[in-house]
Parts: sequence; structure tokens; C-alpha cells
Amino acid sequence: MPLILNRKDVQSVLTMKDCIQAVENAFAELSNGTAILPLRNNITSPEGLSLYMPAFLKDMGALACKVVTVFKNNPSKNLPVIFGKVLLQDTETGDVLCIMDGAYLTAVRTGAASGVANKYLAKKNKNQVIGIYGTGVQAKMQLWAMKETVDIAKVLVYDINENAVDNFIVEMKKKFYLEIIKAANPNELLASDIICTATSSPTPLFDGNKLKPGTHINNIGSHTPNARELDTFTVKNSKLVGDSKEACFSEAGDIMIPLKEEAITVDHFYAELGDLVTSKKKGRTSDNEITVFKSNGLAIQDAAAAKLIYDKAMAAGIGVNVDI
Ligand SMILES: NC(=O)c1ccc[n+]([C@@H]2O[C@H](COP(=O)([O-])OP(=O)(O)OC[C@H]3O[C@@H](n4cnc5c(N)ncnc54)[C@H](O)[C@@H]3O)[C@@H](O)[C@H]2O)c1
Repeated sequence: MPLILNRKDVQSVLTMKDCIQAVENAFAELSNGTAILPLRNNITSPEGLSLYMPAFLKDMGALACKVVTVFKNNPSKNLPVIFGKVLLQDTETGDVLCIMDGAYLTAVRTGAASGVANKYLAKKNKNQVIGIYGTGVQAKMQLWAMKETVDIAKVLVYDINENAVDNFIVEMKKKFYLEIIKAANPNELLASDIICTATSSPTPLFDGNKLKPGTHINNIGSHTPNARELDTFTVKNSKLVGDSKEACFSEAGDIMIPLKEEAITVDHFYAELGDLVTSKKKGRTSDNEITVFKSNGLAIQDAAAAKLIYDKAMAAGIGVNVDI
């Protein structure tokens, strides 16, 4: 009988630390060829967009598919715009083991990918300054992943929505006991050692010419060919790593726009994150290089997180079994 896990159940068992490890293992499987990651299938129906994201991780024993929908008119029906659920299957029989809420899982696994990137691409020194653009759902998880992987001196945050920043600071200070400062303008964040862009902005957030040497950037927001958070200068002058080369060149305006402008070629793409995890390529090699991790969000992250959540829920005896 499949186990049903609601958002509260998922929240009660999923930690960022464990998720970073699971996601790191998933990227290693992708690099080693033991993962199957078909392209995302999209259906655009009259009322909205449905995305189907399947993945298989052989070594981890994870077979899963996430379904995410974006239906813009839902608020008029008192419903959220986005729904997400993950279906986890038994790798031996194919039967459905579990159906779980996918929203919290998505935010944590997205943070976790940046946590993995920090391990290989950020400088290793103590007292790092973190700059976060955006203060929404993803930004909170990005900060959690920073907390797990970096020694933080202080955090600078910027959002065009003043209320969102204020709420972020109150909530995150309570959760992480960090010094978090509201920046007066986007340029103040350029003094950071690690920058995270987690906004819904379709246009660049800062002038890459002003970045300081040694900065690492986790670029997680924009993910359509015409939207970008980074300008051409930043991408052209950085060591560019992505979660998937294919996704970067088919979905990410951050990479596709500089390519279209002929400012970079496909060869500018340095490595996939999995190639750093498996030591096929070196991560950061000097304290001066500017590094970018372009995160598009892959179904292998969802599958790894779903398997982790299911195992922990089974061990804790939570959730409800339903005979379908
Ligand atoms: N890479 C991945 O795997 C992945 C996964 C999930 C979501 N995302 C993307 O991450 C982004 C953020 O998602 P979210 O759920 O946190 O959204 P959200 O709506 O909760 O927060 C986005 C925030 O960005 C702010 N913002 C918009 N333009 C800005 C600008 N120019 N400067 C500063 N702040 C600005 C908004 O005011 C808002 O507070 C979205 O683009 C989403 O599609 C990526």
C-alpha cells in the first residue's frame, strides 16, 4: 500500500545536511552514467502548464517522477498557482511506494545543489560574507545550505519587495542566529564572497564588471531562454559550471543569451557539477577566479530527495498508507 506524506511529514524528516549528501550522490551518479534523466516533458493546456520530471538513480535505488503545475488563474479559486507532488516507485517491482508533497522537497533539494556547489567552488576561508538576491521561498533554503557548507560572518540581502526582505530577516535570524543586513541597493552585495541569485527577475541583477575576484555565484533563479539574472560580462569572465550542460544550453537565458550574442561559445562551459564531485574536473583552483554554478533544477535531485524522505519516514513510522 503506497505511503502518503503531506508537507508536514516531509518537513519533519528532511534536513538540509542529509539532502546535500543525497544530492551530491545523485550528481555523482549522473556523471558516472548510473542515472537515467530523460528530458522534462511539458504540457501547455488552456488553463496552465504541467511539467513531468522523471529520473532513475541505480546506486541509490531511486525511481521517481515529480509533477509540477503552474496554473495562473488558481488564486481566483483560492488555490495556489503552483502544485507539486512526487511519486516514488519500487525499483524492483515498479509499484508505487509513496506519493509525497513536492513543494518543500523542491526548495530543499534546490538549496542542496548550491550546497554541493559551495563545497567545490567557494573559497574555503572562515568568516565569509554572503550576498543573497531575492528573499522568497528559495532564498531561505539557499541560506540554509550556506549555513551547512560555509563559515558565515554576515549575510547581505536585497529584494525589490521591502516587506519580503523584512520578513526574511526576522524569520532567518530566529532560525540561524546570523547577522543579516538589508542592503540599500543591489550593488552593496558585490562585496560578498559568495553570491546567490534567487529571484524572479528576468533581467540581470548587477553589473558583473564590479564583482570582486574570488567570488562564487550560485545562480538559481531564471530558467527560460529569454530570462536571466546574470549579465554577459559575469558569465564570460567566470569559470562556468552547471547542473546539466544540456539544460544550460536549452533552458537557461543566463547562458543562452551570451551564446546568442557570440560573447561565449559552447566550449566556455567548464563542467557539470557531477564532474567535480567525481574528480573528473577540478573545482576552484585559485582564490582569484570567479566561479558560477548555474542551477536549472534536475529530476535526479527530486528522486534522491524523495528516496531519502521515504526511508526516513518509514524509519520514523510517519505518514498514512492508502490502498489504491
Ligand atoms: N534552480 C532551481 O532548481 C529552481 C527551483 C525552484 C525555483 N527556482 C526559481 O527560483 C526563483 C525564485 O523562486 P521563489 O520560489 O523563491 O520565488 P518567490 O516569488 O518566493 O521569490 C522571488 C523573490 O524575488 C524578488 N525579486 C524579483 N525581482 C527582483 C530583483 N530585480 N531584485 C531583487 N529581488 C527581486 C521578488 O520580490 C521575490 O521576493 C524563481 O525564478 C524560480 O523559478 C529555481
